Amino acid sequence: MLGVLVLAFALIQLVPYRVSNPPVKQEPPWDSPRTRQLAVAACFDCHSNETNTPWWQDIAPVSWWLNQHVEDGRKALNFSECTGHGGEAGDAAETIKNGSMPPSYYTWLGLHASADLTSAERQQLTAGLRATLQGAGCGGG
Ligand code: HEC
Repeated sequence: MLGVLVLAFALIQLVPYRVSNPPVKQEPPWDSPRTRQLAVAACFDCHSNETNTPWWQDIAPVSWWLNQHVEDGRKALNFSECTGHGGEAGDAAETIKNGSMPPSYYTWLGLHASADLTSAERQQLTAGLRATLQGAGCGGG
């Protein structure tokens, strides 16, 4: 029985479904380096083409679950592909303010402590993104 599980585990590693990072096309016109720094810390793992994955997240089935999330995140907002117009400035600011972003499963257990923003940082990032994303069109695609 254990042998079967080990074999199954080995086999699913062959499915090439894990996070990859396409080239960065264009970042939004950041209003300040501080805004970028906070966004990198709290949002880039799911909303950019510069996702950092620790080794254990490249292991299936974690990698599958994670990849799905990153794909969904990039579709909604991608800081590396700000090539459109108009946009989600209000949305992005709103998600931080109401606490839906970054998602709680991400900061859970302190796995990404740097993304666990203080309320002062939240305010900075909210205002910063509002200024930065105004008309930047980072819809992803
Ligand atoms: C752990 C991954 C992850 C992180 C980190 C993350 N997001 Fe998201 N985000 C998602 C996913 C997945 C979606 C799409 C599905 C959904 O709406 O929940 C999304 C959707 C969004 C949307 C679309 C509107 C909405 O509510 O669906 C916005 C705007 C957004 N995120 C902004 C942000 C901002 C700003 C940050 C940083 C403060 C951030 N996200 C951090 C995963 C993440």
